[in-house]
Amino acid sequence: MGRKLPKILITAGPTREYLDPTRFMSNPSSGKMGLYLAEEAKRRGCDSLLILGPSQLTTEGIKTIRIVSARDLFENVKKYFKQYDVLIMAAAVSDYRPIKYLKTKMKKEKKSKWIKLVLNPDILSWAGRNKKGHLLVGFAAETNDVIRNAQKKLKKKNLDMIVANQVGMDHVGFNATDIQYSIIETEGEALPMSQTSKRGLSKIIIEKVIKKYQLWK
Ligand code: CTP
Repeated sequence: MGRKLPKILITAGPTREYLDPTRFMSNPSSGKMGLYLAEEAKRRGCDSLLILGPSQLTTEGIKTIRIVSARDLFENVKKYFKQYDVLIMAAAVSDYRPIKYLKTKMKKEKKSKWIKLVLNPDILSWAGRNKKGHLLVGFAAETNDVIRNAQKKLKKKNLDMIVANQVGMDHVGFNATDIQYSIIETEGEALPMSQTSKRGLSKIIIEKVIKKYQLWK
């Protein structure tokens, strides 16, 4: 019999923070990285669940829950966290949301407008505080000081692994096929930055996650 495989919970895509029924704040995340992770987890025989924000992707054959806002995502992560061994947060969660949701469309006025934003929950930090034998994997999308900023997040959020990735350049990052990345684990040095496809990176991450989980068990 093979060794036990981890159950993997994966979040992906952007979140949308609605201001009124016609407008929202969001980001250009495609959800591809998370979908590829879920596909790779399945290919390796792991039971997994993908929680996906608004995205054009179809996820046939992958157990998926669709969410809209950061708060929806948080509710679902809290709901399923206990049933899984690993949480991979590939979602690009909106850090803020408009303080108030207006049920009817906001009308234009002849002056500029301030919209007050409030902080959304930090889902990964919550998981870091509540983990019980879980393996936590975060992503750090950075425009500068990529590795140093990712190392800070790894510590601050009590993670086991973080995938630092470069954003803010046209050919890599958010909506691109390729990604410039480094993987940093709690123990050990950061790997030097290298470039690969998101598909390729999903294989590297799932392989590392399975190995780490099996070492722990
Ligand atoms: N994350 C989260 N909840 C949030 C914001 C981020 O769980 N409200 C997760 C992301 O899914 C990612 C990691 O935390 O795995 C780092 O996200 P990132 O946006 O890079 O960092 P932030 O903590 O939001 O910090 P900053 O925006 O200041 O860089």
